[in-house]
Amino acid sequence: MNEKYPMIFSPDSIGNVELKNRIVMSAMGMNQSDDGFVTDAVLEHYAVRARGGIGLIIVEVSCVDAPLGKNTGNSLVIDNDKYIPGMQKLTDVIHAAGTKCFLQISHAGRGAFRRITGMQPVAPSAVSMPYSTMMELSNETPRELTVKEIHNIEEKYAQAAFRAKKAGFDGVEIHNTGYYLGQQFLSSVANVRTDEYGGNRENRIRFLLNIIRRIRELCGNEFPIAVKLSVVESGEDAGITMKDGIYYAKRLQDVGVNAIEVLAGVWSGTKGNVAKAVDEECQMTGLCQILKREIRKMTGKNSTIKIIGGGHVQHPQVAEKALEEHQCEFVFVGRELLVQPDFVKLIEEGREDEIKHCIGCGTCSRVQLQKGETCRCVLNPDVGQIIKENRVL
Ligand SMILES: Cc1cc2nc3c(=O)[nH]c(=O)nc-3n(C[C@H](O)[C@H](O)[C@H](O)COP(=O)(O)O)c2cc1C
Ligand code: SF4
Repeated sequence: MNEKYPMIFSPDSIGNVELKNRIVMSAMGMNQSDDGFVTDAVLEHYAVRARGGIGLIIVEVSCVDAPLGKNTGNSLVIDNDKYIPGMQKLTDVIHAAGTKCFLQISHAGRGAFRRITGMQPVAPSAVSMPYSTMMELSNETPRELTVKEIHNIEEKYAQAAFRAKKAGFDGVEIHNTGYYLGQQFLSSVANVRTDEYGGNRENRIRFLLNIIRRIRELCGNEFPIAVKLSVVESGEDAGITMKDGIYYAKRLQDVGVNAIEVLAGVWSGTKGNVAKAVDEECQMTGLCQILKREIRKMTGKNSTIKIIGGGHVQHPQVAEKALEEHQCEFVFVGRELLVQPDFVKLIEEGREDEIKHCIGCGTCSRVQLQKGETCRCVLNPDVGQIIKENRVL
């Protein structure tokens, strides 16, 4: 047992998948596939981080419907069986280090760019993606999906999850935050449909619940499903209230989802607001606590769904405290693992004073979404250095 951080280094499970510690690497798109296929660069990126001691790696945004669902040219794709062998190699290198892995399955919806897809983006409604101060981008007005098209995309998510299972992933995470389709269905501002997919919370979550039910049919009850959820949004174009978020979380628990990774969305916030929000360490744990309390109130029982909280985590003491106080069961870490792939190992070995910290400059995201480049980190020259030529088959 690690005496200084007993909570971080105690095992826990998501569904029946046991994780050796409580640190979860958040999905971070690197934009370094070769036309959707896993490359040597992708293998190396995750192998290094798995060897760094992380309990669970959520492998980055993988498109269930290419090219329509892509917002970067070289994102991973999982909409066809031809991607399975590369993904299998990826799960092998991660498992070889004793780390578990989930695949994040995703569709960009109105966040997909015509310069990448060659098509007008699609969305629940013809409401364009608002300007994001944080990312400094917006997008053209999307085309509203027909119900038949929605059914088709639901099936694509489920088939993608089935492929992930075949490739050896321990579970999947369904992407419902940020600039992506899942979130767009949940938002009353992005989704103004008047049919069974819009108009109230029950209808807005239908898309997500249909996907989950179908994944269960294809992959069975034992295959863990996590959902990355914007529990609340702020800013002028916010379309998810805290009440919505609580309702959505409860529905996810009812339908047997195994974990929620808790996020909050910011739309069109002023620069000052954004900076304030990102400065606070482990910023989502307050939201995690609210969700846990409200789920208990609604069901009369403690939540059985595991809660993954975090946001701007840089110091183990903060993670340990959140776990100790039962604010969440797992702590997600994103950018810190770009800067410092062996973040967990250094903590475990008592060498935390050697950890380099992310400075929050945003270069890693902006170069991908604005310039179409491979991810880079100003503090770690190894990130995104080997480009795509070696497709893994
Ligand atoms: C370069 C980069 C790529 C990202 N790509 C994804 C992604 O593929 N899927 C996703 O859900 N979130 C993505 N995110 C958001 C992270 O998963 C995470 O939620 C966010 O960075 C906050 O965690 P942090 O403060 O620990 O970095 C990305 C973030 C960064 C910096
Ligand atoms: S590029 Fe900047 S924001 Fe991104 S991980 Fe590196 S230091 Fe952090």
